[in-house]
Amino acid sequence: MKAALVTGAARGIGAATAIKLAEQGWAVLAVDVAEDDPALPYPMGTAEELSTVVAKIQENGGTAEEFRADVRDRAHLAAAVADAEQRWGGLDAAVAAAGVIAGGVPLWEMPLEQEDAVLDVNLRGVLNLAHVAIPALLRRPKPRSGRFLAVASAAATRGLPMLAAYCAAKAGVAGLIRALGTELGDSGVTANAVSPGSTDTPILAESARLYDLPAAQTFATQQPQQRLLDPAEVASVLAFLAGPESSATTGAVIPVDGGLAL
Ligand SMILES: NC(=O)c1ccc[n+]([C@@H]2O[C@H](COP(=O)([O-])OP(=O)(O)OC[C@H]3O[C@@H](n4cnc5c(N)ncnc54)[C@H](O)[C@@H]3O)[C@@H](O)[C@H]2O)c1
Repeated sequence: MKAALVTGAARGIGAATAIKLAEQGWAVLAVDVAEDDPALPYPMGTAEELSTVVAKIQENGGTAEEFRADVRDRAHLAAAVADAEQRWGGLDAAVAAAGVIAGGVPLWEMPLEQEDAVLDVNLRGVLNLAHVAIPALLRRPKPRSGRFLAVASAAATRGLPMLAAYCAAKAGVAGLIRALGTELGDSGVTANAVSPGSTDTPILAESARLYDLPAAQTFATQQPQQRLLDPAEVASVLAFLAGPESSATTGAVIPVDGGLAL
């Protein structure tokens, strides 16, 4: 059985990805901090939500376990990777979906602790996962098909006002993935990212609040498809990238955005 580690798995895109991978036969280690961040004014996923994701997978006959870790802490993530390797004999995919948002003011007015949270979770967190998960993917014997995956954003390529730090972090993720694609070369391990558009999750609700919009639904009008995306639609592309059919794709940042970046 192939094993995947997914961060940000308590809710939203990470939860949908954990569920989709389990449906496709993967053993999944569902990782989340499951604790609020004092620097951020909106709630993170909860321990109960993380347990519910794992219970749902198990009730459907799938294989999943939960692991609480903060992606800002490389040692925590190393322990998560070790847990997956011990349980399932190795690691075949790592998905960096954990993320936070803050802004709502020009960059020069943004409190330092919020800027730190955005950069440390959204960029450093992905670097941390790459540091500890890629060696595990490479520990699989050849011929291997390891997958390092990240969730970037349409904000990686668009200059979104009042979200400058978030844009910087997500552009950093896109650059990281391109470079990892070249570094991983002919190893059999690939690195790819998806760039979602406005997807119906708590981060989008917080984005609406930051822009003083009445509801997240307002973001739908910015996307040519004129609707918000469902987290499962982003998870489908991540699951494809995790699987054997994506073998020729590496270093790619794939829009899954209802046309937002067009
Ligand atoms: N929803 C959108 O419109 C959208 C668009 C583009 C990109 N994204 C990206 O998608 C990813 C998933 O976000 P989402 O929309 O599902 O939001 P979400 O808030 O529903 O989920 C994010 C999850 O990450 C977890 N998390 C936060 N900080 C963490 C940390 N330090 N360590 C471990 N886990 C942590 C949270 O507890 C939460 O469960 C993020 O990287 C986000 O930037 C979302």
